[in-house]
Amino acid sequence: MRINRFLARAGVASRRASDRLIQEGLVRVNGEVATPGVKVDPLVDEVVYQGRVIQDGEPGTYLILNKPPGYLVSAGDPHHRRTVFELLKGVTARVFPVGRLDLDTWGVLLLTNDGDLNFRLTHPRYGVEKVYHARVRGIPHAETLRRLREGVLLEGVQTAPAAARLVQEKDGNGWIELVLHEGRKRQVKQMLAAVGHPIRRLERISFGGLTATGLKPGCWRHLTTGEIQNLRHQVGLS
Ligand code: URA
Repeated sequence: MRINRFLARAGVASRRASDRLIQEGLVRVNGEVATPGVKVDPLVDEVVYQGRVIQDGEPGTYLILNKPPGYLVSAGDPHHRRTVFELLKGVTARVFPVGRLDLDTWGVLLLTNDGDLNFRLTHPRYGVEKVYHARVRGIPHAETLRRLREGVLLEGVQTAPAAARLVQEKDGNGWIELVLHEGRKRQVKQMLAAVGHPIRRLERISFGGLTATGLKPGCWRHLTTGEIQNLRHQVGLS
Protein backbone atom coordinates (compact mmCIF):
# COMPACT_ATOMS: atom_id res chain seq x y z
CA MET A 1 0.00 0.00 0.00
CA ARG A 2 1.07 3.60 -0.49
CA ILE A 3 3.12 5.07 2.33
CA ASN A 4 0.60 7.83 3.13
CA ARG A 5 -2.19 5.27 3.54
CA PHE A 6 0.01 3.15 5.76
CA LEU A 7 0.81 6.15 8.00
CA ALA A 8 -2.85 7.22 8.20
CA ARG A 9 -4.01 3.71 9.11
CA ALA A 10 -1.37 3.55 11.81
CA GLY A 11 -2.65 6.82 13.27
CA VAL A 12 0.43 8.96 12.57
CA ALA A 13 -1.53 11.63 10.68
CA SER A 14 -4.22 11.96 8.02
CA ARG A 15 -3.20 10.96 4.49
CA ARG A 16 -2.73 14.59 3.47
CA ALA A 17 -0.70 15.43 6.57
CA SER A 18 1.33 12.25 6.04
CA ASP A 19 2.20 13.48 2.56
CA ARG A 20 3.66 16.59 4.12
CA LEU A 21 5.70 14.56 6.63
CA ILE A 22 7.08 12.53 3.72
CA GLN A 23 7.87 15.63 1.67
CA GLU A 24 9.71 17.08 4.65
CA GLY A 25 11.88 13.94 4.74
CA LEU A 26 10.70 12.90 8.20
CA VAL A 27 9.74 9.34 7.32
CA ARG A 28 12.16 6.51 6.61
CA VAL A 29 11.49 3.17 4.96
CA ASN A 30 14.12 0.52 5.63
CA GLY A 31 16.57 3.21 6.66
CA GLU A 32 16.10 5.41 3.56
CA VAL A 33 14.22 8.72 3.53
CA ALA A 34 10.80 7.86 2.04
CA THR A 35 9.77 9.34 -1.29
CA PRO A 36 6.17 10.45 -1.92
CA GLY A 37 4.07 7.65 -3.38
CA VAL A 38 6.44 4.86 -2.43
CA LYS A 39 4.67 1.60 -1.65
CA VAL A 40 5.31 -0.39 1.50
CA ASP A 41 4.53 -3.93 2.47
CA PRO A 42 3.64 -3.84 6.18
CA LEU A 43 4.82 -7.43 6.62
CA VAL A 44 8.27 -6.76 5.19
CA ASP A 45 9.17 -3.07 5.34
CA GLU A 46 10.23 -1.09 8.40
CA VAL A 47 8.71 2.39 8.53
CA VAL A 48 10.14 4.85 11.06
CA TYR A 49 8.78 8.26 12.05
CA GLN A 50 10.24 10.35 14.90
CA GLY A 51 12.49 7.50 15.87
CA ARG A 52 9.60 5.06 16.31
CA VAL A 53 8.91 1.99 14.23
CA ILE A 54 5.34 2.38 13.02
CA GLN A 55 3.17 -0.70 13.27
CA ASP A 56 0.46 -1.44 10.74
CA GLY A 57 -2.98 -1.11 12.20
CA GLU A 58 -6.56 0.03 11.88
CA PRO A 59 -7.55 2.98 14.06
CA GLY A 60 -9.45 1.93 17.10
CA THR A 61 -7.76 3.18 20.24
CA TYR A 62 -8.89 6.41 21.89
CA LEU A 63 -7.55 7.37 25.32
CA ILE A 64 -7.78 10.24 27.77
CA LEU A 65 -4.86 10.80 30.13
CA ASN A 66 -4.73 13.15 33.11
CA LYS A 67 -1.20 14.38 32.50
CA PRO A 68 0.90 15.26 35.52
CA PRO A 69 3.74 17.80 35.20
CA GLY A 70 7.21 16.43 34.55
CA TYR A 71 6.24 14.22 31.60
CA LEU A 72 7.08 15.19 28.02
CA VAL A 73 4.46 14.84 25.29
CA SER A 74 6.92 13.30 22.87
CA ALA A 75 7.90 9.84 21.74
CA GLY A 76 11.50 10.20 22.75
CA ASP A 77 13.78 12.76 24.30
CA PRO A 78 17.53 13.13 23.78
CA HIS A 79 17.80 14.25 27.43
CA HIS A 80 16.08 11.04 28.62
CA ARG A 81 13.29 12.83 30.43
CA ARG A 82 10.13 10.89 31.22
CA THR A 83 7.42 10.85 28.56
CA VAL A 84 3.66 10.43 28.79
CA PHE A 85 4.02 7.05 27.06
CA GLU A 86 5.50 5.66 30.28
CA LEU A 87 2.13 6.33 31.90
CA LEU A 88 0.19 4.24 29.37
CA LYS A 89 0.69 0.92 31.11
CA GLY A 90 -1.26 -1.85 29.39
CA VAL A 91 -1.76 0.03 26.12
CA THR A 92 -0.47 -2.07 23.24
CA ALA A 93 -1.64 0.11 20.32
CA ARG A 94 0.70 2.80 18.97
CA VAL A 95 -1.17 5.94 19.89
CA PHE A 96 -0.25 9.53 19.15
CA PRO A 97 -1.01 12.59 21.28
CA VAL A 98 -3.72 14.95 20.06
CA GLY A 99 -1.79 18.21 20.18
CA ARG A 100 0.77 18.99 22.84
CA LEU A 101 1.00 19.99 26.48
CA ASP A 102 4.18 21.52 27.88
CA LEU A 103 6.37 19.57 30.30
CA ASP A 104 4.99 21.48 33.30
CA THR A 105 1.33 21.54 32.20
CA TRP A 106 -1.30 19.38 33.89
CA GLY A 107 -4.54 17.97 32.62
CA VAL A 108 -6.45 16.50 29.72
CA LEU A 109 -4.45 14.87 26.95
CA LEU A 110 -6.17 12.73 24.32
CA LEU A 111 -4.20 10.03 22.48
CA THR A 112 -5.34 7.96 19.54
CA ASN A 113 -4.22 5.97 16.54
CA ASP A 114 -7.03 7.52 14.46
CA GLY A 115 -5.00 9.87 12.26
CA ASP A 116 -7.96 11.58 10.58
CA LEU A 117 -9.62 12.41 13.86
CA ASN A 118 -6.31 13.55 15.37
CA PHE A 119 -5.65 15.88 12.43
CA ARG A 120 -9.09 17.47 12.65
CA LEU A 121 -9.11 17.84 16.42
CA THR A 122 -5.96 19.94 16.24
CA HIS A 123 -6.69 21.88 13.04
CA PRO A 124 -7.89 25.46 13.71
CA ARG A 125 -10.49 25.10 10.94
CA TYR A 126 -12.56 22.82 13.16
CA GLY A 127 -12.22 25.11 16.19
CA VAL A 128 -12.49 22.39 18.83
CA GLU A 129 -12.86 23.92 22.29
CA LYS A 130 -10.04 23.70 24.83
CA VAL A 131 -10.50 25.03 28.36
CA TYR A 132 -7.50 26.04 30.47
CA HIS A 133 -7.11 27.20 34.04
CA ALA A 134 -4.01 29.27 34.69
CA ARG A 135 -2.72 30.62 37.97
CA VAL A 136 -0.98 33.87 37.14
CA ARG A 137 1.14 36.41 38.92
CA GLY A 138 -1.01 39.38 39.92
CA ILE A 139 -4.73 39.94 39.50
CA PRO A 140 -5.73 40.80 35.92
CA HIS A 141 -8.01 43.83 35.46
CA ALA A 142 -11.24 43.72 33.48
CA GLU A 143 -9.42 45.54 30.65
CA THR A 144 -6.76 42.79 30.55
CA LEU A 145 -9.43 40.11 30.32
CA ARG A 146 -11.03 42.05 27.47
CA ARG A 147 -7.70 42.06 25.60
CA LEU A 148 -7.40 38.30 26.05
CA ARG A 149 -10.93 37.84 24.69
CA GLU A 150 -10.44 40.06 21.68
CA GLY A 151 -7.00 38.76 20.82
CA VAL A 152 -3.38 39.59 21.50
CA LEU A 153 -0.52 39.74 19.02
CA LEU A 154 1.76 36.71 19.19
CA GLU A 155 4.66 36.76 16.74
CA GLY A 156 2.77 39.32 14.69
CA VAL A 157 -0.44 37.29 14.41
CA GLN A 158 -3.57 38.08 16.41
CA THR A 159 -5.03 35.26 18.51
CA ALA A 160 -8.60 34.22 17.65
CA PRO A 161 -11.49 35.40 19.86
CA ALA A 162 -11.49 33.53 23.16
CA ALA A 163 -13.43 33.52 26.40
CA ALA A 164 -11.53 34.74 29.45
CA ARG A 165 -12.68 35.24 33.02
CA LEU A 166 -11.18 35.52 36.47
CA VAL A 167 -12.34 32.49 38.47
CA GLN A 168 -10.46 33.06 41.73
CA GLU A 169 -8.18 35.46 43.56
CA LYS A 170 -5.83 34.22 46.26
CA ASP A 171 -2.72 35.64 47.95
CA GLY A 172 -2.23 38.22 45.22
CA ASN A 173 -2.50 35.64 42.42
CA GLY A 174 -5.41 35.20 40.03
CA TRP A 175 -6.87 32.06 38.46
CA ILE A 176 -7.99 32.68 34.91
CA GLU A 177 -10.16 30.47 32.76
CA LEU A 178 -9.34 30.71 29.07
CA VAL A 179 -11.42 28.98 26.41
CA LEU A 180 -9.58 28.65 23.10
CA HIS A 181 -10.56 27.33 19.69
CA GLU A 182 -7.06 27.18 18.25
CA GLY A 183 -3.83 25.66 19.51
CA ARG A 184 -0.73 27.65 18.75
CA LYS A 185 2.56 26.73 20.36
CA ARG A 186 2.58 27.58 24.09
CA GLN A 187 -0.41 29.75 23.36
CA VAL A 188 -1.80 30.21 26.86
CA LYS A 189 1.59 31.05 28.37
CA GLN A 190 2.37 33.44 25.55
CA MET A 191 -1.02 35.18 25.76
CA LEU A 192 -0.77 35.72 29.50
CA ALA A 193 2.84 36.84 29.30
CA ALA A 194 1.83 39.31 26.57
CA VAL A 195 -0.67 40.96 28.94
CA GLY A 196 1.83 41.08 31.81
CA HIS A 197 0.69 38.08 33.89
CA PRO A 198 3.20 35.22 33.64
CA ILE A 199 1.81 31.79 34.41
CA ARG A 200 2.70 29.91 37.60
CA ARG A 201 0.60 26.82 36.97
CA LEU A 202 -1.33 25.67 33.92
CA GLU A 203 -3.95 22.98 33.62
CA ARG A 204 -6.07 21.89 30.66
CA ILE A 205 -9.50 21.26 32.07
CA SER A 206 -11.16 19.94 28.93
CA PHE A 207 -10.65 19.14 25.27
CA GLY A 208 -13.70 18.89 23.03
CA GLY A 209 -15.85 18.75 26.17
CA LEU A 210 -13.96 15.80 27.70
CA THR A 211 -12.66 16.30 31.22
CA ALA A 212 -10.39 14.20 33.44
CA THR A 213 -13.02 13.88 36.16
CA GLY A 214 -12.38 10.71 38.15
CA LEU A 215 -8.85 10.25 36.78
CA LYS A 216 -5.99 10.91 39.19
CA PRO A 217 -2.95 12.64 37.65
CA GLY A 218 -0.98 10.00 35.76
CA CYS A 219 -4.04 7.81 35.11
CA TRP A 220 -5.80 7.13 31.82
CA ARG A 221 -8.90 5.39 30.49
CA HIS A 222 -10.40 4.42 27.15
CA LEU A 223 -13.01 6.79 25.74
CA THR A 224 -16.52 5.39 25.56
CA THR A 225 -18.19 4.80 22.19
CA GLY A 226 -20.44 7.79 22.88
CA GLU A 227 -17.45 10.05 23.61
CA ILE A 228 -15.70 8.96 20.40
CA GLN A 229 -18.85 9.56 18.35
CA ASN A 230 -19.26 12.97 19.92
CA LEU A 231 -15.66 13.97 19.07
CA ARG A 232 -16.05 12.73 15.50
CA HIS A 233 -19.30 14.62 15.15
CA GLN A 234 -17.66 17.88 16.36
CA VAL A 235 -15.17 17.73 13.47
CA GLY A 236 -17.54 16.58 10.74
CA LEU A 237 -16.65 12.87 10.71
CA SER A 238 -19.69 10.65 10.89
N1 URA B 1 -0.69 26.55 26.13
C1 URA B 1 0.52 26.57 26.73
O1 URA B 1 1.14 27.62 26.84
N2 URA B 1 1.02 25.42 27.22
C2 URA B 1 0.35 24.24 27.17
O2 URA B 1 0.86 23.24 27.65
C3 URA B 1 -0.90 24.23 26.56
C4 URA B 1 -1.41 25.40 26.04
